[in-house]
Amino acid sequence: MSKKHTLVIIVGSTREGRFGPVVASWVAEQARQHGGFDVEVVDLADVEIPLSLPAVSPKFAGDSYPRPEGMAALTSRLEKAAAFILVTPEYNHSYPASLKAAIDWHFTQWTAKPVAFASYGGAAGGRHAVLHLENVLTELHAVTIRDGLMFPNYFTAWQDGRPLDPAAPGYAKTLLDQLAWWAAALSAARETSPYPA
Ligand SMILES: Cc1cc2nc3c(=O)[nH]c(=O)nc-3n(C[C@H](O)[C@H](O)[C@H](O)COP(=O)(O)O)c2cc1C
Repeated sequence: MSKKHTLVIIVGSTREGRFGPVVASWVAEQARQHGGFDVEVVDLADVEIPLSLPAVSPKFAGDSYPRPEGMAALTSRLEKAAAFILVTPEYNHSYPASLKAAIDWHFTQWTAKPVAFASYGGAAGGRHAVLHLENVLTELHAVTIRDGLMFPNYFTAWQDGRPLDPAAPGYAKTLLDQLAWWAAALSAARETSPYPA
């Protein structure tokens, strides 16, 4: 059997009464059933993420970047991850500030790693959030996965913690197959030679 890669699934919303953990929990279940990953779920609501950043960009500061104590566990899990799934709602045609702040406090932790998306929201299903995330992650030299999970009108499209659409597990498998392929390819490449960022 091929090597399992560490997949970190990030719950991007921290709002009171949020739906994000429901989506993340179902996505994690699909990923565990898939079998290609060691799956971890990180909830940004449990992380200290100040909006005010240090003077220098994390791109240039390396390990000495002065992050708050309450961010250490997040940083170490991002560092060890070989693949990510960002679970994001749509807030005003974009993604939540909590997710942007978590991304901006890091740089090398994303570089040359694959990132997939599971989005939800109103009619657009988080489409605008994902478009913005793809743009941001390109700056960090991450590789975004084409096939995503998108749940429009989740308030009627989900019941008892699961999407009602019977095709949803199949879409999840496609995403996870692509993510596993990229995780293997990019992990091997990072081991062979340092990424020229
Ligand atoms: C500040 C805010 C802005 C929102 N803007 C949009 C939007 O532009 N498009 C959309 O489809 N849904 C929008 N929604 C609805 C959210 O997608 C929906 O409330 C979702 O549950 C939010 O995710 P959460 O429950 O994990 O916080 C917005 C919700 C909030 C709180």
